[in-house]
Amino acid sequence: MDQTEKIRVLIVDDIAETRENLRKLLSFARDIEVVGMAASGEEGVKMARELHPHVVIMDINLPGMDGITATEQIVREVPTAQIVILSVQGETGYMRRAMAAGARDFLVKPPSGDELISTIRRVYEIGRAQVARIAPTIPAAVPGTGRLPPPVPARRGQVVTVFSPKGGVGCTTVAVNLAVALQARLGSGQKVVIVDGSLQFGDVGVMLNLQPSRSIADLAVRVDELDSDLLTSVLTPHPSGIKALLAPPHPEAADSVIGDGSGDGHRRLQRILEGLRAEFDYIIVDTCSILNEWTLLFLDEADLILLVITPLIPDIKDARLFLDLADRLGYPKDKLALVINHSDRRTGLRLEQIERALMPAIVHIPYDERAGINEANRGIPIATEEAGRPIGQAFVHLVAGVLERLSQKKSEAEEAPPPEVTQRLGRFLGI
Ligand SMILES: Nc1ncnc2c1ncn2[C@@H]1O[C@H](COP(=O)(O)OP(=O)(O)OP(=O)(O)O)[C@@H](O)[C@H]1O
Ligand SMILES: [Mg+2]
Repeated sequence: MDQTEKIRVLIVDDIAETRENLRKLLSFARDIEVVGMAASGEEGVKMARELHPHVVIMDINLPGMDGITATEQIVREVPTAQIVILSVQGETGYMRRAMAAGARDFLVKPPSGDELISTIRRVYEIGRAQVARIAPTIPAAVPGTGRLPPPVPARRGQVVTVFSPKGGVGCTTVAVNLAVALQARLGSGQKVVIVDGSLQFGDVGVMLNLQPSRSIADLAVRVDELDSDLLTSVLTPHPSGIKALLAPPHPEAADSVIGDGSGDGHRRLQRILEGLRAEFDYIIVDTCSILNEWTLLFLDEADLILLVITPLIPDIKDARLFLDLADRLGYPKDKLALVINHSDRRTGLRLEQIERALMPAIVHIPYDERAGINEANRGIPIATEEAGRPIGQAFVHLVAGVLERLSQKKSEAEEAPPPEVTQRLGRFLGI
C-alpha cells in the first residue's frame, strides 16, 4: 500500500438516501474515496470481491443476505477489507455477533461526519498494521506494499494472551497464576511481566494485592521515550518476582491509552508491547471479554492465546465462535490453546466431549474453594499458596505446556520463513 493512496471505501445499505448521505459526509475527507455503493448484502460481497476496498461500511439490517452474513463472507474472501457495522441504537446482541463475524468496529445510525471519518481512518490503520506485520518476513519489496520491515528488537520476549469470550470464567485468575508459576519455574534469570489488558475494569492489581502507583496510562503518554528506565518506573513489582503493568485507576483514564479513535491508541499499545518484548522474556496479557480494538491487538500480537472456558454450554458455544473468528483472522491453529477452568464442576458434559468439539485442552484447572479466599484477603496467588493441592499442580502443568508450545514456536521462527507465509501475505493483500 502506498503512503499517499486514498482510503477506498465501499458503502452497503439498502436505503438509497442513507447511501447518499454517507457518500456526502465522506466527500469532506480528502484522504477517503468512495469506490462503490451496494444496495444489498449479495451486491456488497460481489463489489468487495471486485473492488478490494480498504473499508466497508455495512448496514446490519439488509433484506435477503443480512449484514452479518455479508460481513462473514467478505472477511473470508477479502481479508484486507476492514468492516464497520452500521446499526440503530439498541442492537447490542447483533453487535456482538457482528464483531464475532469479523467486523472491526461499529457506528450507531446516523453517524456524525467526524465519527464516520475517524472510524474509517482508524480501521484502515488496523488493516495496514495487519499487512505490515506479515510483510517483514518477505525479503525484498513486496509489490504494492512499499513498506519497510520494522527493526527487530534485541531481546524478543514472547507474548501469551489470556482471553475468554465470557466474563467471570477465570481469565484473570489464569493470567495471574500463570505469570507467578512461570516465574517460579524459571527463576530470577528470566523475566516475566503481566499486563492488565482489561483497560477499563482491570483486576490484576486487586488479585495481586498491589497498590497501583503507576499504570499503563502513564506509559501511554510517553511511548516515544519508552526505554528500560521508563518501564522500571511504571511497572509495579510483586513479591513473587514478576512485574505488573496495571490498568489505569479509573475507567475514564483508559482514554489516554485507547485514544480518540484516530488509530493512535493502536500504535501506542503496539509500542508498549514492543518495549516489553525488548525487556522481558515472557509477557502475559490478561484481557477483558469484549472483542474491541485493543483486545484484538493483544490477540494479534500474541505468540500463544489461552482460551479460557468452564464446562458449560454457553462457554463452549462462544469458544466455537471465537475459534472460527481466529481462523478467519488467519491465526495458525497452534497459536491457540484451550484452558478448561472449574474442570471438576458437574455440568453433565464430559471434558472429552468438549475437547472433541473445540480442541484438546492444554490444562484442566479444578475448582478450589480456598483459592478465591486467599486472593481476596492477601493477594497471594493460588499458584504459590496451593502448590501442593490439585489446583497448584494444574498451574505447574500449565507452565510446562505453555513453555513447550512457545519453544516450538521459537524454533519454527528461527528456521527459514516457510512458503506458507507468502501465501498468507497474498491472501491479506488480495493478490
Ligand atoms: N479454579 C478456581 N477455583 C476457585 N475460584 C476460582 C477459580 N477460577 C476463578 N475463581 C474465582 O472466580 C472469580 C472470577 O474469576 P476471574 O476474575 O479470574 O474471572 P475473569 O474471567 O477474569 O472475570 P472478568 O470477566 O470479571 O474479568 C474470582 O473470584 C476467582 O477467584
Ligand atoms: Mg478478568
